[in-house]
Amino acid sequence: MQTKVSVATRERLLRAARQAMKNAYVPFSQFRVGAAILTSRGKIFLGCNVENSSYGMTSCAERTAIFSAVAKDGPDLEILAVAVVNDHGVPCSPCGACRQVIYEFGPSAVIFYRGEKGPKQSLITELLPEGFRLQ
Ligand code: THU
Repeated sequence: MQTKVSVATRERLLRAARQAMKNAYVPFSQFRVGAAILTSRGKIFLGCNVENSSYGMTSCAERTAIFSAVAKDGPDLEILAVAVVNDHGVPCSPCGACRQVIYEFGPSAVIFYRGEKGPKQSLITELLPEGFRLQ
């Protein structure tokens, strides 16, 4: 089932993501990313990318937001929507690792991001067909 998100809620998520983007720790890429997730309890959680000298340890904005939500509200997280923004105004959809993490908690989630032709929305199942789930 597809998650419906109103225009007002979408704009609120994008605004929140832009706010979170300001906190990004990006000494290596200078590429700030912010994310906001909407949960089934109607709460919004924020994340930014946090880089590391050991590059692979970097956490993307999306995962930062999701892990922060679990830390605050517990493991019964249901993600309805995710908004992602960056400070370069360039296309930026969630990376493969983040898609799998979004899918874990939001198999019906809708993602708002910038595509090749501008603002775009996709279901997580469009971005990640046949996401992995441990049954
Ligand atoms: N990044 C994110 O935070 N989210 C995305 O969706 C794409 C990439 C970050 C990781 C790294 O800090 C920087 O952007 C450049 O790859």
